[in-house]
Amino acid sequence: MKNNILKLILGLILMAMVTACGEKKTTETEVRKGNYRIVDNTIVFDEPQRIEGQKSVLQFTVDPIENVRIGFIGLGMRGPDAVDRMTYIDGVTVVALCDIEPDRVEAVQTNILEKKGLPRAAAYTGREGWKELVARDDIDLVYICTDWKTHVPMAVESMRQGKHVAVEVPAATSLEECWQLVDVAEQTQRHCMMLENCCYDFFELTALNMAQQGLFGELIHGEGAYIHNLEPFWHEYYENWRLEFNQNHSGDVYPTHGLGPLCQAFNIHRGDRMKTLVSMGTPSYNGKKIAKEMMNVDDFANGDMTTTMIQTEKGKTMLIEHDVYTYRPYNRLYQLTGTEGFANKYPTEGFTLLEEKLPAGFLPEGQHLNPHAFVPAEVRDKIMKEYLHPIAVEIEEKAKEVGGHGGMDFVMDYRLIYCLHNGLPLDQDVYDAAEWSCLGELTAASIANGGMPVQMPDFTRGDWNKVQGYRHAK
Ligand SMILES: NC(=O)c1ccc[n+]([C@@H]2O[C@H](COP(=O)([O-])OP(=O)(O)OC[C@H]3O[C@@H](n4cnc5c(N)ncnc54)[C@H](O)[C@@H]3O)[C@@H](O)[C@H]2O)c1
Repeated sequence: MKNNILKLILGLILMAMVTACGEKKTTETEVRKGNYRIVDNTIVFDEPQRIEGQKSVLQFTVDPIENVRIGFIGLGMRGPDAVDRMTYIDGVTVVALCDIEPDRVEAVQTNILEKKGLPRAAAYTGREGWKELVARDDIDLVYICTDWKTHVPMAVESMRQGKHVAVEVPAATSLEECWQLVDVAEQTQRHCMMLENCCYDFFELTALNMAQQGLFGELIHGEGAYIHNLEPFWHEYYENWRLEFNQNHSGDVYPTHGLGPLCQAFNIHRGDRMKTLVSMGTPSYNGKKIAKEMMNVDDFANGDMTTTMIQTEKGKTMLIEHDVYTYRPYNRLYQLTGTEGFANKYPTEGFTLLEEKLPAGFLPEGQHLNPHAFVPAEVRDKIMKEYLHPIAVEIEEKAKEVGGHGGMDFVMDYRLIYCLHNGLPLDQDVYDAAEWSCLGELTAASIANGGMPVQMPDFTRGDWNKVQGYRHAK
């Protein structure tokens, strides 16, 4: 009896020792590296608290703005076309233009505004001129088309000066910058929309509409990419900002074209959220070569090909690729796999559908669909017409005429102004901007740790499940 009690006590002591050792081991494996910790083999970035007085901007609206007065900053390759597109939209005034280089501002004044009989805009130049532009009291919206590093300082100051912001992709280049955009939008109660134009391409919009109507069943997997050899453009970026950025940053530094349209289809922060990612990068070969030629440097951080997998809270997966260096056809992948159907944009636009998902009489008498192949071209063309997203119906023709990547840029600008005119939530909110842009730093951290999983931050701070289903406001 005594022996048994002794054995029991010894056993309990041993168990306590094992448990204590286990706990110690867990804390021992928690390693801090800069702004993240590695906990149980997962990278966990620090997440700032929402400060007092700061309010969520989910589904955020402001009073209708009858005439949207715009100030543009950044008139390089991208900016002038944005000014031009806006001149086709009623209820818009181009109030001010800014670029470091005076001749770029002047070119827009003469080639776009004067040519169309519109008044010249106020002009700002030099590196700091934009600060005067955003301080004006007759601007509603600041439209930013500068290099990546200047997006956040400009967006933040604009919001602090009471302006709404539209900012080119990616909106931010680090996690800290992503949080800054979210926090300042919440503090100032201003719109901050990233200009992710690929959400407005006609195939993506049609597929989104079909997904929302259940034609693909339950979406389980999506693929997106930015595969675009930038060789013809490297010399064109102002002061070489893009190659220089890539030289210093590994990871998917330009993820939003691939990710944005998927996040809308997967209802990200409208019922689901991106939870974990893992990323891997190849060595740099072609990037290194161009950097040697242009910058005379030997090191190049950005791998020629970066591949990232994301898993959502509901367990769905997305594959995102980045390659701006190799000799391949342009490709954004854009692929949706559902339990009952499939959409694919590159290199072949097509759908695989179950016949019964289409309305009665949609297919010509006697025609059947093969669930192991794309629908025939004439069925695809009919789908593209009949499932055109409602937001594109009335402006498709004008968008194709005005242009901008085949019309999608115009649909984007048109929607931005439509929502502001009507006091509606914008199609992309500041949480989208942060979620899509944060991949840069998160993928770099995963790569730096051998493809380790990264816990994705919740920029909505717990509100990701409040809205059910992504919808364009009407
Ligand atoms: N959505 C798309 O399809 C798409 C396509 C191309 C570029 N972009 C984005 O547009 C942005 C601009 O790209 P780009 O190709 O026009 O680059 P760019 O180098 O041709 O133009 C950048 C312009 O910003 C100006 N600028 C920089 N700092 C400034 C400052 N402090 N004040 C005023 N002006 C300043 C420069 O003078 C230059 O004219 C980038 O964010 C890029 O990612 C998006």
